[in-house]
Amino acid sequence: MSETSRPLADRVAIITGAGRGIGREHALAYARAGAAVVVNDLGGGGDGTGGSTGPAADVVAEIEAEGGSAVSNGDDISRPESAARLVHTAVEEFGRLDVLVNNAGILRDKTLLNTSLEDWEAVLGVHLRGTFLTSQAAGRYWRDRAKESGPVDARIINTSSGSGLFGNFGQSNYASAKAGIASLTIVTSLELGRYGVTANAIAPVAKTRLLASTGRIEETVSEGFDPYDPKHVSPLVVWLGSPESRDVTGRVFSVVGGYVGVVEGWHIGPTLHHEGPLTFDEISKELPEVLAAARPNATPRESHPYARES
Ligand SMILES: NC(=O)c1ccc[n+]([C@@H]2O[C@H](COP(=O)([O-])OP(=O)(O)OC[C@H]3O[C@@H](n4cnc5c(N)ncnc54)[C@H](O)[C@@H]3O)[C@@H](O)[C@H]2O)c1
Repeated sequence: MSETSRPLADRVAIITGAGRGIGREHALAYARAGAAVVVNDLGGGGDGTGGSTGPAADVVAEIEAEGGSAVSNGDDISRPESAARLVHTAVEEFGRLDVLVNNAGILRDKTLLNTSLEDWEAVLGVHLRGTFLTSQAAGRYWRDRAKESGPVDARIINTSSGSGLFGNFGQSNYASAKAGIASLTIVTSLELGRYGVTANAIAPVAKTRLLASTGRIEETVSEGFDPYDPKHVSPLVVWLGSPESRDVTGRVFSVVGGYVGVVEGWHIGPTLHHEGPLTFDEISKELPEVLAAARPNATPRESHPYARES
């Protein structure tokens, strides 16, 4: 095999939520690209309840059957002790850690008015706290390596969502978590760059159990090129995990099928600006005109070409 077909040779990756869906495709793609993989998955239901070591173990067996290297981990990544254990597993089993892919996720869709505190905390816990905890544990490991022997060449790849970037009815908990992950990615890139760590995020779309549970799409992948096949998300994540992407950091990518869009973040549109403080009356008189000149916020239909077509 050539170097380009094994762009992750000698790299060690942790992939969370890698027992099913998009994460499973990441794990298979990483192993095929030459990485040794820690396959994490709680193995629970789509709402985060229950658990089983089966899905992570099945993916490890699949990787090993293809001649790759992997080890399974069934930890719940929303728990503080799990992150340290994941990093420890990578180092114990494979001697190092180069890439952290934060992918695990659950849904508990309800409107803002109907969301219970438990549903809010469960969703924020897996997505936002989980991403924070693993990033902190991996970041501390890389900081210590960088202090010992100079900058590392490491990667954090987070998973945001069009729901967090553009908003989505019925997903106040999930959208808040995913918007938080996009912001956390930017802050992580600013803070860990000095140690040689990049941080980027993807906002994928794919036919998986999670998306099927919203009723917007079925889980079954069609024959031929199905743009919603989860395997199409992984090539970008392999590239982001490779040495090739070392100058790319703090970015969010929309990815689906054969499409990658660079998401440009919040920016200031038309402004109201006086030299000195604004009065209530000035705001009342002048802001409507400024607002009329502003573009509306982007919507999920603008998030990728297939959404616009459907
Ligand atoms: N499918 C889509 O269209 C889509 C769109 C936007 C974002 N995403 C994001 O992509 C990621 C993968 O989702 P998917 O669609 O493949 O769903 P999925 O349900 O098929 O896979 C998610 C995996 O995460 C695991 N998981 C859940 N909670 C966990 C925990 N606490 N610890 C460890 N593992 C846990 C699950 O067991 C499951 O195997 C999620 O972060 C999701 O929010 C998916």
